[in-house]
Amino acid sequence: MDCLQDWPEPVVRVQSLSDSGATTIPERYVKPAADRPSSAPCADIRIPVIDFATLASDGSTLDCPTVAQAVSCACRDWGFFQVVNHGVDPGLIRRMREVWGSFFHLPMEAKQAYANSPKTYEGYGSRLGIEKGAILDWGDYYYLHVLPTSLKSTDKWPALPPTLRETTDEYNQELLKLCERVMKVLSLGLGLEDDFLQKAFGGDDVGACMRINFYPKCPQPDLTLGLSSHSDPGGITVLLADDRVKGLQVRRGDAWVTVQPVPDAFIINVGDQVQVLSNATYKSVEHRVVVNSEAERLSFAFFYNPKSDLLIGPAPELVTPDHPALYQPMSFDEYRLYIRRKGPRGKSQVESFKAV
Ligand code: OGA
Ligand code: NI
Repeated sequence: MDCLQDWPEPVVRVQSLSDSGATTIPERYVKPAADRPSSAPCADIRIPVIDFATLASDGSTLDCPTVAQAVSCACRDWGFFQVVNHGVDPGLIRRMREVWGSFFHLPMEAKQAYANSPKTYEGYGSRLGIEKGAILDWGDYYYLHVLPTSLKSTDKWPALPPTLRETTDEYNQELLKLCERVMKVLSLGLGLEDDFLQKAFGGDDVGACMRINFYPKCPQPDLTLGLSSHSDPGGITVLLADDRVKGLQVRRGDAWVTVQPVPDAFIINVGDQVQVLSNATYKSVEHRVVVNSEAERLSFAFFYNPKSDLLIGPAPELVTPDHPALYQPMSFDEYRLYIRRKGPRGKSQVESFKAV
């Protein structure tokens, strides 16, 4: 895997470009006309909002089939939903936003100490993919491992502001609990036992990581994207979006639907591994981020993934003569090399591994 050793070109921080006050963006960030934000109409519809208040704290849904049904429908139809009354303390959410907002506003030298490489992606980064000459996205990020604990190294997390590490740890523990509940609901929605997905992901050996996305103000937002269209390669993603600044768009047929964030809600979406395990009953849907000239935007994407060396294929229970297996089994380690090399490219990856 030598090709993942280093970036093909010097890394430019998007925040520096934004702070320079230039009124145009470098050529490297200008997308082809078909990919620009304005080229597709934005439909005036919304992704489902689901209330978890009636869901038992362990995720068992015997008491509330309505929640399970709503989640199942959303994952079949949209691949996305927002969840309110999810049980994560709004005070903790506020602290996460504060500490990471402060980090991205530290002087550049302080952030550069954490510059990442494509080998593990951990740390402060400004691109996905290692193709020389690629058109880049208008965003910086910080990537960190949560599970397995053997990969988690808090010394690679920012040391400043001083409460960042403990706040992030606390947040991650809460998000892991939320993911476990969501996994049960998703399993039941497939007509399977509630521990089906968790077991398929490796039980206690699941993986988890987080990307904190920072999208600086952009002088020409109509020409570029904060994050190009992609589907998430992992299991499920729980996104804490910016309450004040919109940006996430979800594909709906030929249109892009702008998500209207509900304050302190989480946006949950199905990743490619759950699409594969569910034999395409649940959809891992393309999404992208648009930027703007008025305000920066901060978002937290928490990725809950299968143990990285397990083979992930369609659940035998969901394969029938009428619904043959759509995908060949593959480990997540192997699968995610694609996005790590090529960067975000719509749904081309999961499509390319179709068995038929
Ligand atoms: C991601 C992602 C959306 C956002 O990090 O994979 O889709 O709003 N983020 O930042
Ligand atoms: Ni994503």
